[in-house]
Amino acid sequence: MTGFDRLRARLVREYEKKTPRSRAVFRRAGKVMIAGGSHTIRLWRPYPFFAAAAEGPAVRDVDGNSYIDYWQGHYANVLGHNPRLVRRGIAASLERGALHTGFEASDQIELAEALVDGLGGREAKVRFTTSGTLATMYAVMLAQGLTGRDHVLKVGGGWHGASPYLLKGVKFRAGEGFEGRESAGLLDDIVKRTLITRFNDLTDLQKVIDEQGDRIACFIVEPFLGVGGFLPASREYLELARRLTAKHGILLIFDEIISGFRFRAGGVQTLFGVRPDLTTLGKIIGGGHAVAAVVGPREIMEECERGRGGGDRVFFEGGTFSAHAEYMKAGLIMLGYLAGHAATVYPRLARAGERLRRGIERVFAEAGLAARCTGGGNDVVPGSSLFMVHFPRTAGIAYDRPEDVHDPGRSDLARREDLLKLALLVNGINIVHGGGAVSAAHGAKEIETTIAAYGEAARLFAEYLD
Ligand SMILES: Cc1ncc(COP(=O)(O)O)c(C=O)c1O
Repeated sequence: MTGFDRLRARLVREYEKKTPRSRAVFRRAGKVMIAGGSHTIRLWRPYPFFAAAAEGPAVRDVDGNSYIDYWQGHYANVLGHNPRLVRRGIAASLERGALHTGFEASDQIELAEALVDGLGGREAKVRFTTSGTLATMYAVMLAQGLTGRDHVLKVGGGWHGASPYLLKGVKFRAGEGFEGRESAGLLDDIVKRTLITRFNDLTDLQKVIDEQGDRIACFIVEPFLGVGGFLPASREYLELARRLTAKHGILLIFDEIISGFRFRAGGVQTLFGVRPDLTTLGKIIGGGHAVAAVVGPREIMEECERGRGGGDRVFFEGGTFSAHAEYMKAGLIMLGYLAGHAATVYPRLARAGERLRRGIERVFAEAGLAARCTGGGNDVVPGSSLFMVHFPRTAGIAYDRPEDVHDPGRSDLARREDLLKLALLVNGINIVHGGGAVSAAHGAKEIETTIAAYGEAARLFAEYLD
């Protein structure tokens, strides 16, 4: 048995000891739910804890254990779990009747205005959806409808949800890198028409657009990469993307589903000063509810109202629950709060993020182990609440590309995804991909407790691992 296996067995024993109820619930779930739940990322091994309650920085499981949580609702909960402010506001509106009616109502206009404001206040139109996946799917469809082209360009490691055009180049695979398809059931034709370029690589972007620009409908990219590694784009990269896409008639889509309202009370794109053709937003903008949106200038969004030159319009319909009254209210409360408190919330988030990143690297160094944190800002994004921990296999890895984060030859992924997760869970901390997102509800006490728990994990790693 390797040191890894022995440590894992020890951590699993400890985890099982503290979570017998979750284990039983998971067994029951496995009989009726795919893989025992509703989202693969929530279903870690050997089994997830099941949540009973959550407030602020913490979540409590069905066994009564409390965890400081950095997953925070898939990074939607920038004010922490269940902020009282939002709860109170939607309770009042539910009392007045905010369940679904299927009619247009006016809160959606105010929320749309807040999104447009957050993206720089230029004239734009919004359509709401109920998931980020739908928002990016419609944005791509809109680009294809407008340009009459059928290729899509995305970055390796970029996750934009599960629409067929974007289910390629998300996971890194040995021998294939970020070129693989993510799912069975995708048509070969679609997979072939999704092109992958390397994030933050100006030469590669120039090459692919020079060679295939006239076939590409859109380039979709996160200005601050999320699942791909919590990595900011460089200013030069986004500026080049803007120049090249404009030159070749390609729509530039910024996917700000994670970055929107996380670094400032609006899109991170305004810090870069680069204006895309379309923006997708989600997560934070729903105040804890299922809200996402596509935002774009009138001349583009009007393609959904009428087709060009008498042709078909892009069928960007809403869905049954689009702009649900309760969701709109919650989003408005959230964005109103963030706009009103931006001067305190964002610097505080950035400071807490920085303390965590530095603290985690320090405790691993003290244990004699190399650990690197991504998630920090750059010369454009002044600070960040995000952190992702990596265990480099060799010295000198820059950690500025998704390849550094996801290639098992460069970083020890099992250590991050499996061992570190368990080592922190048994110490009352919940992380995903080695870290997560600080919320405004995480105070100095939580940050120090978290660094100490990473320190505990580091000592175990030093004891068991070669
Ligand atoms: C950048 C980005 N785009 C799109 C999505 C998909 O959003 P949803 O999970 O709401 O479908 C996600 C989800 O994590 C995301 O991080």
